[in-house]
Amino acid sequence: MKVGGVALRPLAAAPGRDAVLVIDQRALPHRLQIERLDSAQAVHTAIRDMWVRGAPLIGASAAYGLALALREGADDAALEQAAAWLRGARPTAVNLMWALDRMLRRLRPLPAAQRAAAAWDEADAIAEDDVRCNAAIGRHGLPLLQALFARKPGPVNVLTHCNAGWLATVDWGTATSPIYQAHAAGLPLHVWVDETRPRNQGASLTAWELGQAGVPHTLIADNAGGHLMQRGQVDLVIVGCDRVTAQGDVCNKIGTYLKALAARDNGVPFYVAMPSSTLDRNLRDGLAEIPIEERSAREVTHLQGIAASGAVVEVGIAPAGTPAANPAFDVTPARLVSGLITEFGIVAATAEALAGLPQHG
Ligand code: MRU
Repeated sequence: MKVGGVALRPLAAAPGRDAVLVIDQRALPHRLQIERLDSAQAVHTAIRDMWVRGAPLIGASAAYGLALALREGADDAALEQAAAWLRGARPTAVNLMWALDRMLRRLRPLPAAQRAAAAWDEADAIAEDDVRCNAAIGRHGLPLLQALFARKPGPVNVLTHCNAGWLATVDWGTATSPIYQAHAAGLPLHVWVDETRPRNQGASLTAWELGQAGVPHTLIADNAGGHLMQRGQVDLVIVGCDRVTAQGDVCNKIGTYLKALAARDNGVPFYVAMPSSTLDRNLRDGLAEIPIEERSAREVTHLQGIAASGAVVEVGIAPAGTPAANPAFDVTPARLVSGLITEFGIVAATAEALAGLPQHG
C-alpha cells in the first residue's frame, strides 16, 4: 500500500540481510517512524511491546527474528532455543507459532552452516506468501461487497474492529483487503472504524490507513456499533482474527464478540477474514482453550495522544490507583460467524468446512 504516494510495507528486510526495517506502530498516526531491528532481541521486544502487531505481521517478524538469531550460532540447541524464546513474545496470535514452526521444518534438516542463509530465504518466503494470501482474501471478499451494492443504492457500509489492515500484515491487510479492492474497482463504500479501546488501534491505525488510501470512513466509539446496526447503517461487519479453532470459534481483539452479538441481533452479516495461517487445528473450544493475553492495566487507565504543542503525551483518565483489567482478546463462538474469508475462498465456520481447508506453508 502507499503512504503519500510511496509504496511502503510495515516490515521489510534490509538489503544486507542483517536487519529488518519496521514501522514503529506505537508512533502512528502522529509520526511515521521506521526502525531498524538488527538482532533477535530487538525483534522480540518489537513484538512484545507492539511496535509491530497484528497476527500475520507478528508471524513474519518472528521469522526474521529467528534468521537474525542464527547469525550468532545455528546448531540444534541454538535453533530450538531461539525459536522457543521468540514463541513467547506474545501468546494469542497463532501466526507467531505457525511461522516459527514453518521455519523449524525448513531448518532442522539442514547442516548448521547452511541454516542462517536458509532462514533468511524462508522468512522472505513467509513475507511474500502473506502478501499473496491477503490479496487472495481481498479477491474472495470482494463479491460480498458487490452483492450488497447490487441490493441497495448508495455506498456499502462496512464496520471493522481493531486494525486488520495492511499495518497488521506484510501488505493489503486481511479484513481491509476486500475493502481496498472494492475501492480500487470503483465500488462506493464507507467504513465505520471502531476506535478499539484500550489501545485504539482503530483510531490510530485503521483510520490512518484508510485515510492514506482515500477510502471514506468514520471513526466511532466502540459502543456505537450496535446503535448503528439497529438503524440499518451497517451492511456488513468484517474483522480479522488472531486464532480460529478447528470448530470455527474466532479469537480477535477484545470487543469483537460484542459486535458479533449485535450483528446477529440485527441480521447484519458478520464475516471474519482468516488466512489459513491463523487456523489452529489443534484446538476446538475457543473459549476454553485459547490463551488470552492480559496486558498492562496502564493501557486502560491512561491514553496517549497529541497535544496542541505537537508533543505526544500520555494522560490519565481514572482516579490514581484505580484497579483495571485488560484482557486483550475475546472469543466469538462459531455460531455467530457468517463465514470465514480465506485465501482459498469463503468457508463456513464449522468443523466440517474447516477440515477440508488446505493449509498454506
Ligand atoms: O493486539 P493487536 O493489535 O496485535 O491485535 C490485532 C488484532 O486483533 C487483529 O484483528 C488481528 O491480529 C488480525 S490482523 C490481520
